Amino acid sequence: MLLGFLTTASQAETHYHEFVIQAKPVKRLCRTHDTITVNGQFPGPTLEVRDGDTLVIKAINNARYNITLHWHGVRQLRNPWADGPEYVTQCPILPGRSYTYRFTIQNQEGTLWWHAHSKWLRATVYGALIIYPKLGSTYPFPMPKREIPILLGEWWDRNPMDVLKQATFTGAAPNVSDAYTINGQPGDLYRCSSKETVRFPVDSGETILLRIINSALNQELFFAVADHRLTVVSVDAAYTKPFTTSVIMIAPGQTTNVLITADQTPGRYYMAAHAYNTAQNAAFDNTTTTAILEYKYAPCNAKKGKSSPPPILPQLPAYNDTNTATAFTAQLRSPSQVKVPTQIDENLFFTVGLGLINCTNPNSPRCQGPNGTRFTASINNVSFALPRRNSLMQAYYQGQPGIFTTDFPPVPPLQFDYTGNVSRGLWQPVPGTKLYKLKYGSKVQLVFQDTSIVTTEDHPMHLHGYHFAVVGMGFGNFNAATDTAKFNLIDPPLRNTIGTPPGGWVAIRFVADNPGNPLKFIFQQIFYITNAVPLIHSLWYGTGIWLLHCHLDSHLNWGLAMSFLVENGVGQLQSIQPPPLDLPQC
Ligand code: C2O
Repeated sequence: MLLGFLTTASQAETHYHEFVIQAKPVKRLCRTHDTITVNGQFPGPTLEVRDGDTLVIKAINNARYNITLHWHGVRQLRNPWADGPEYVTQCPILPGRSYTYRFTIQNQEGTLWWHAHSKWLRATVYGALIIYPKLGSTYPFPMPKREIPILLGEWWDRNPMDVLKQATFTGAAPNVSDAYTINGQPGDLYRCSSKETVRFPVDSGETILLRIINSALNQELFFAVADHRLTVVSVDAAYTKPFTTSVIMIAPGQTTNVLITADQTPGRYYMAAHAYNTAQNAAFDNTTTTAILEYKYAPCNAKKGKSSPPPILPQLPAYNDTNTATAFTAQLRSPSQVKVPTQIDENLFFTVGLGLINCTNPNSPRCQGPNGTRFTASINNVSFALPRRNSLMQAYYQGQPGIFTTDFPPVPPLQFDYTGNVSRGLWQPVPGTKLYKLKYGSKVQLVFQDTSIVTTEDHPMHLHGYHFAVVGMGFGNFNAATDTAKFNLIDPPLRNTIGTPPGGWVAIRFVADNPGNPLKFIFQQIFYITNAVPLIHSLWYGTGIWLLHCHLDSHLNWGLAMSFLVENGVGQLQSIQPPPLDLPQC
C-alpha cells in the first residue's frame, strides 16, 4: 500500500511560480493606462497542471494597492489559508510584501482560473488555471488537436480602482465598462484595436478545445463562433454530458469547455461575445468583442492580404434573451449519476438581490443612487460588511472577539412575495458580518431566491471551497411543496458558480465535508509533530470559513455575500491545516 502511495507521489508534480504584482503601461482603445498586472502580463500567466499536482505561488506585491489572489474553483481541501478572499481567509498583502500560496489540486480536472480578490483589482489581474488529467488518464472525449484558452474580460478606459472609488463615494451604480475583451484584446469593432485583434490559426478539419472563462467584472455574456457549432463537454472543471449548441451564456466566475471542429469552408470566422443583461433600467456595456478563427490554408484571396473579405460575425442573441440563456444552462447534466445528498440536514433559503439605503439628505453627493439613495445588496436582508481590523479566519484562530457573529439567518427574517411588487419598507437591508455555522459533514440544500427589489436579475452565486450540484431552477417564487419533487437528483451538473434566473430561484446541494487523502495524512503527521502548538489549537478549535457571493463585483461591493463557518470533524483528515507562517497580518 505504501508503495502505491509513493508511485502516485512520484507522478504528481510541484510547480513553483513567482507572481510579481506590478503596474505596467497597457494601451487599449487609443489610450495607455498604468495597469496592475502579474509579471507585466495582461491577462496574467496561464497555469498548467495535472490533477494531483501542487502549486506553490509566491505573490510579491510591487503595486500600490493591497492585494490577495484567489484560485477560483479550487476546492482547497482543509486549506482555506490558500483561498485568498481579502479579509475572509487572509489579510491583504501590503505593497512591498509577499505571501506564498501553497495548494494541491485534488480530484479536479478541466478549466479554472485565478484572479485578484481585493476591491476591483481582478479587472486586470486574472489568468487561466488549466488542470489536465493525471498522467496515464485522458479526457472522456476524443483528444482535440489543439486547445485554446479564451478569457473574456472587461476593460475600462480608466483605472478600474477609481471607478469603484467613485461609485463607493456617490452610492450610484459604477460606470459600465468601455469594452469587452478576448484574451485582453477588444477586437475589430472598437477604436484603435483591430491591429491587435487576437487570431487563432487552425488547421482545416481539426477539432479544437476552447476553454472559455468569463473573467468579466460585472457582466454575463453570450459567446458564439460564426458558422461553427459548439459541443459543451465541461463546466467549472466538471465534465458534462456533451451537447451541441450555436451559442453559450457564461456568467462571471464560470468556465465552459467546448469542442469545435474546423469543418467549414477554409477562411476566417469571428468568435464574438456581448452582454446578456437582465437588470431593468440599468446601463450596461452593449459593445461586442471579437477574435478571429483563421484556417491556416485559406484560399488564395486570403493570401492577397487586403482583398480578403472581412470575417463573418456570428449571430448573438438579443441582450435580454433570457429564454436562450435559461435553456442553455438548463441543458447541463453530469455525464453519469452523481452522489447528491437526499437526507437534508440544513435546509437554507437565501433571498438575494439589491436594495437602496435611504439618506437623511437626499441631495448629498454621497446619495447619487435612485431618488437620492445609495445602492446596496444583501442575502436574507443582511448586507455583508467585510471586517477591516482582521480577516475572519485570523480573528477566529486568534480568538479575537467582535469581528463577526454566527447568527446569519437560514431563511429571510420576513416572508413576502419575493418576485412581486415588494413594499418600499423592505428595500433597505441591515449591514452585518454574519456567518452561518455548518457541522462537518452536514448535507446542505440551499435555494437562492432572486428578489424584485430595485430589479430582478441574474446573480451568479459563487461558493468558495466547494462545488455543488445544481438540482433545480425556475421562475417566480420557489415553492418547496411542488418544486422539490421536480429536482434532478440523478445527474445534476456540478458547478462552483450558478446564476439565479432573473425573477426566479436556483437550488443547490452539497455536503459540508473535506475528505482527506492518505498520503497527505502521512506528511501531515510529520508536519504536525514539528508544529505541535498551532496543531493543538487547530485540532480543537479548527474550522474553515468559506465565502459565498455574487460574482458581479459591483454587487459584491454592495454586500451581496455571506460566509459559511464549517466546523472541524474528528481527527486530522477532517480538520484544517495550521496557518502558514508567512500569512499576512492585518
Ligand atoms: Cu472568483 Cu470570491 O471569487
